[in-house]
Amino acid sequence: MPAFSPFSFPDILKSSASAKEKPIPVYVVRAEDFKSWNKKQSAALRTLFSAQGWEASQSSVALINDSHGTLNAVYVGAGKNLSLYGLATTVEALQKSVPSATLKKLVFALDSTGLSDEEITRACTGWAMACYQFEAYKENRKASPELVIPKTADKARIKALVQSISLIRNLINLPANALGPVELADAAIKLAGTKKATAKLTEDKKLLTYNFPLIYGVGDGSEKRPRLVDISWGNPKHPKVTIVGKGVCFDTGGYDLKPSSAMLTMKKDMGGAAMALGLLNMVADLNLPIRLRVLIPAVENSVSGNAYRPSDILKSRKGLSVEIGNTDAEGRLVMADCLTLACEEKPDLLIDFSTLTGAARAATGFEIAAMFSNNDALARELQDISLREEDPVWQLPLWAPYRSDIMSPNADLNNSGNNAAGAITAALFLESFVEASTDWIHLDLSAWELSGKPGRTRGGTDMGMRAVLALLEKRYAAKPKKK
Ligand code: BES
Ligand code: ZN
Ligand code: ZN
Repeated sequence: MPAFSPFSFPDILKSSASAKEKPIPVYVVRAEDFKSWNKKQSAALRTLFSAQGWEASQSSVALINDSHGTLNAVYVGAGKNLSLYGLATTVEALQKSVPSATLKKLVFALDSTGLSDEEITRACTGWAMACYQFEAYKENRKASPELVIPKTADKARIKALVQSISLIRNLINLPANALGPVELADAAIKLAGTKKATAKLTEDKKLLTYNFPLIYGVGDGSEKRPRLVDISWGNPKHPKVTIVGKGVCFDTGGYDLKPSSAMLTMKKDMGGAAMALGLLNMVADLNLPIRLRVLIPAVENSVSGNAYRPSDILKSRKGLSVEIGNTDAEGRLVMADCLTLACEEKPDLLIDFSTLTGAARAATGFEIAAMFSNNDALARELQDISLREEDPVWQLPLWAPYRSDIMSPNADLNNSGNNAAGAITAALFLESFVEASTDWIHLDLSAWELSGKPGRTRGGTDMGMRAVLALLEKRYAAKPKKK
């Protein structure tokens, strides 16, 4: 098998069919329109729909054959809006009903009748993502049906999105023996290179020289040495946006070792870093008028003679001392030094993506990222945008009275609280490292699709990235010049 690249993606969308190909049309029918629409169809077609019991309910698929039994049209039901994964069931139905060898030869074409350009752009992205398979260790198992996208689609956006979401899934799905701190940093630097961004790498002991004691303190427990990647993209005169992504390539919990069941998915603990890189890919490809900085602390939280211990006290970049109440609360430590660094240049907006707490999963589950902000209006804006983007985040409070929970008699802070509200105390910990004057959003996310859904295979998944992208597009839209 050829070496696997985390930058691989399902390359199955086409702008046009070749002269030889006769694409099979894919028609979208909204459930609410079915009755009136059906009346206008031929009697033969109506009979076929009724034989299949197909009434255009959301995501339901009807595969229609000609008189020779050859597939010649696909119909799919939609709700009020055709969603991102609105065509994913179509891909699944084709993979199930059409033999692989046949499907590989077919080309489909989305009929744009009645669809907005935005719906088309989203649904084509979802079609491609429904064809995603993690192929680093196992050859393509299912055929991926090719789709000709309508002329009105935003092709550049679709391509960028498919590449970003695939990159995120690949990076998360790669196990820690293939993606440690070195490989994560390499992928970040490689991406920066392709986007004409600058990348600065601070490795191992240099982390102490340049004053990142918390990143070093967590990463010192592993033979896979810690590092910090600092990427800068875009015109430095544009508003400065800084993204920090938690890059814990594997989280054993350290001496406070995780039980097996909790450790099993911890290759995903660099999901925040994956989100940050996916976002960088989008921002660069869409050429947003911002200067984007991406900070990735890449470490492994391991157990060894060098590993930090419960009750150790570490100094942070900011100067605050931190008592280690729990070595499994490592994420907030590596993020803290990055947030301090980020605030040193007073960015216009600071956002972090972190798989920070199990408590956030208990609060909002695997589909919704828990969101915190020191600016409530900004938080609400992002929350509204996220629902429209089908990438939900939901605000939880930075409840100041719970700060008592992360106090320590021996140091300025303790890294673990005993309060039931673990996602809130973790966010409060991070807040201690953020300048109050800097607009800051913290996303505590799972980065993991638990069960597998149409379009989203079980495993790494994007979360919050599309919502944040939409926020950036809105906040930094090129403003019309004043007359
Ligand atoms: N990486 C975990 C958090 C996590 C767990 C994210 C499950 C997604 C799913 C983090 O480093 C962690 O272990 N946090 C602890 C903190 C506690 C020790 C204060 C947690 O949430 O239990
Ligand atoms: Zn942990
Ligand atoms: Zn962790």
